[in-house]
Amino acid sequence: MVSSSKSELKSGNKVFLAPTDRNKEIILEQLRPFLDSTNYVLEVGSGSGQHIYHFAKEYPQVVFQPTEYDTSLFSSIEAYTADLDAGHNVLRPIELDATKQEHWKNIIDVSRQERGEAETAHGAYDLVISTNIFHIASWEVGSGVVRGAGQILRPGGFYIAYGAFKRNGKFSTESNAQFDQTLRGRNPDWGVRDIEAIQMVAEEEARMTLVEIRDMPSNNYMLIFQKIDVEE
Ligand SMILES: C[S@@+](CC[C@H](N)C(=O)[O-])C[C@H]1O[C@@H](n2cnc3c(N)ncnc32)[C@H](O)[C@@H]1O
Repeated sequence: MVSSSKSELKSGNKVFLAPTDRNKEIILEQLRPFLDSTNYVLEVGSGSGQHIYHFAKEYPQVVFQPTEYDTSLFSSIEAYTADLDAGHNVLRPIELDATKQEHWKNIIDVSRQERGEAETAHGAYDLVISTNIFHIASWEVGSGVVRGAGQILRPGGFYIAYGAFKRNGKFSTESNAQFDQTLRGRNPDWGVRDIEAIQMVAEEEARMTLVEIRDMPSNNYMLIFQKIDVEE
């Protein structure tokens, strides 16, 4: 990631994103009930690694698997998590392009090796999280994240997405509508996505149900999906 804005700084290998720093505690507060009863968490798009470091610091008993599309950020993720005390379990980041089926398959293979499990065809994770991906990536990526989460979650597990979204095609505020225009100006494939479109992919292609939509500060939402609790 190239240092391109005032909100992005670099110290050694650590990339520091100011918005990520501001929302890390707000997000953790919502995740706590899920992390309390979780063994294995995978984060899609760990970015700088600030979030996973913050969450793992609080939950040493949970195994966290970071992933990132931009492999140049691996050194930042690893630099943050190197600061954790022994016993905090963050695994090495894995490359994940959410549109690539072979990358999701690789995640299942790696988790199987890590845990010494002979045959975990799917259902490897209790919780999958992603923050601020859908609006700043193509729809192909966003829908790929949903399909992939459905693939790697165990039955009954949760997928939690945080970020800016529309509801029923409507922006929650005028500033979110302007944000959408700015994003599309930067890249025509980007833009604030409809919760209902994501829900459709989850329900029709990923065996997940949207169980809750939480209002979050700064006009963001947290979407909580649960994998259907029955193996085929
Ligand atoms: C704004 S950053 C969010 C980083 C971090 N989650 C945070 O909240 O600070 C957007 C993220 O979108 C992810 N992304 C973009 N294209 C992707 C793709 N094809 N597959 C998976 N993730 C992708 C990148 O990995 C990047 O981390």
